[in-house]
Amino acid sequence: MSRSKSSNQWLKEHFDDQFVKQSQESGFRARSAYKLIEIAEKFKLFNGLQAVVDLGAAPGGWCQVVKAKAPKTELVIGLDLLPIEPIEGVEFIQGDFTEDAVYEQLLRLLGNRKIDLVLSDMAPNLSGMSAMDQPRSMLLAEMALEFCQQALQPGGAHVVKLFQGEGFDQHMQNLRQLFNKAVIYKPKSSRPRSREVFAVATGYK
Ligand SMILES: C[S@@+](CC[C@H](N)C(=O)[O-])C[C@H]1O[C@@H](n2cnc3c(N)ncnc32)[C@H](O)[C@@H]1O
Repeated sequence: MSRSKSSNQWLKEHFDDQFVKQSQESGFRARSAYKLIEIAEKFKLFNGLQAVVDLGAAPGGWCQVVKAKAPKTELVIGLDLLPIEPIEGVEFIQGDFTEDAVYEQLLRLLGNRKIDLVLSDMAPNLSGMSAMDQPRSMLLAEMALEFCQQALQPGGAHVVKLFQGEGFDQHMQNLRQLFNKAVIYKPKSSRPRSREVFAVATGYK
């Protein structure tokens, strides 16, 4: 297929997509908002939520979902490489989560406060070459898990985007060691042909 044909097809699929339509109507900035809505409802992640960190937060869809569905949450911090338009009640850090200085900035913002939920929808810019994309995405997941170990309170939860491939099974094992339960979940709103899935880990030990 020619490039213009395939990009036309992508645009048609995008605008026919029920979740794109719904997010435009409801004011969510990204279609991905529906993935978190589905995950949070299924795993009851927002019950009694007090503090949450959202890694890879731009353009802000997941932070909007937290504010809309769990409005009593006291602390919501989003972090991304890209700038994010402000959302009331959400603090943003712009920077690369894999850089020490940015990681330290996040820890400083938290101070002594422990959090209930670490979200990570981070994904590297995909090159289409699995040999490069897979290790990059696993590194982001591993670093998010390291952050959980520093910042989550016992009983806390973690949602992380993963791509099936090398390192995936080991990562699920690591999650199962640190949490009471860790399952793989593919929301209906995640495009079927995308290799992405979400690991949902609850009951941080
Ligand atoms: C799929 S988007 C997130 C969408 C978001 N959950 C929402 O609903 O609006 C993935 C994001 O991860 C971010 N990202 C990738 N690598 C990152 C890194 N090393 N540090 C911070 N953010 C990163 C990208 O800039 C991108 O905005």
